[in-house]
Amino acid sequence: MIESTDPPSVIEELVDLSRVAETIQSQLDSFQARHERAGLVLPQDVLQGLRQFNAKLITLRESVTTIEVERRSLRVFAEIGHVVNSSLDLPTVLNEVIDTIIQLTGAQRVFLMLRNARDEMEIYVARNWERESLRPGEYEISRTIVNQVVQHGEAVLTTNAQEDPRFDSMQSVVAYSLRSILCVPLKAKDDLIGVIYADNRIREGIFTESDRFLLSAFANQAAVALENAQLFNDMSMSYDQTLEALVAALDARERETQEHTRRVVLYSMTLARKMGLSEDELIEIRRGALMHDIGKIGVPDAILQKPGPLTEEEWVLMRRHPEEGIRILQGIMFFEGAVDIIGSHHEHYNGNGYPRGLKGEQIPLYARIFSAVDALDAITSDRPYRKAQPFKVAYQEILRCRGTQFDPKVVDAFMTIDEQEWRALRAITLPRERGREPTMEAGGKRGETTR
Ligand SMILES: [Fe+2]
Ligand SMILES: [Fe+2]
Repeated sequence: MIESTDPPSVIEELVDLSRVAETIQSQLDSFQARHERAGLVLPQDVLQGLRQFNAKLITLRESVTTIEVERRSLRVFAEIGHVVNSSLDLPTVLNEVIDTIIQLTGAQRVFLMLRNARDEMEIYVARNWERESLRPGEYEISRTIVNQVVQHGEAVLTTNAQEDPRFDSMQSVVAYSLRSILCVPLKAKDDLIGVIYADNRIREGIFTESDRFLLSAFANQAAVALENAQLFNDMSMSYDQTLEALVAALDARERETQEHTRRVVLYSMTLARKMGLSEDELIEIRRGALMHDIGKIGVPDAILQKPGPLTEEEWVLMRRHPEEGIRILQGIMFFEGAVDIIGSHHEHYNGNGYPRGLKGEQIPLYARIFSAVDALDAITSDRPYRKAQPFKVAYQEILRCRGTQFDPKVVDAFMTIDEQEWRALRAITLPRERGREPTMEAGGKRGETTR
């Protein structure tokens, strides 16, 4: 039911031409009637030719209308293709595109189903005409029609399922009062990966061949986008797994900070979420936190594993690790946001940090967030030269350094997070220490955080 709300002038001109032809024909007819008795007869082929001309005009008008509808479909389809391929946030894109399809076709509901690991068609997106997502209780569709499309790989279109002899034995069609249904396959290369199912349970005759054309074309686009998103996800996952393996190797080398990385990843994402950062930003923070000390790969074991305090020369080497980290990862697109943390996690808000002595908001936000949780974990974990301290001490210490070492805004957000929440996160990363709280009597030197 793709409507032509803005009729093209060529159709209007054809209508005008038909009218002119009809007028000429009726004038000739009456002329002939008036003069027949006087023996004046018009040649038969003139009238015949005129009738044929008029009939041809009508056919032409119908063809032009069809072409116009298809042209409009193609334009919409091109727009849809652009939207589908412009973003990797697939659920949002699919929702938007399906809303457009509903608007264009007059469907009440559209379902996008994908084949799951059990080889069943599972509903992935379900939208109604009010641009809302449907709840599982509203998933009343004809599974038989879906199965038919899956089996034959061909679209099924019915203008009134209630009276369609192909579906008269189907319970779902009767029980759910299904009427207009259009179901098309989603094919990626030669594989059928899912279907798109559109219906209207009130009106019959909603879908046309043009809708089938539009939906099938969209289905092909969607299948490609879904495959791309899947590939991107797989790639990101294997990247992350590789990173985690690399970081685990680094952590194993720096024995005293085992599990530290896993904790600061969780802590920094929690604090960033509290500060209202987006999901995309959280992904960058996660990568940055994971890799924050990657530059220590260049610090000798003798320094990294030294049980006591470092000498001034050793500190010089140790303080190179943020820049060394940047040097290793710079230019890799995957770490674009992460390098903010890697290069600046030892900067202090008042400019007394290293390596560049950046001040205030010169320090990237990710790094300002990260340095607070890096300190939190350092204080609440055992170090070779002192025992872990309770979370209360960490709160006091972080508050004490508000505006000096840490960004006041970050500290304020930090203070709104309950101690229980930090402890719960710590418990996730430390299964063997679950429930163990760093104790006060453990003691240790205050003010010493990370290196
Ligand atoms: Fe560091
Ligand atoms: Fe750290």
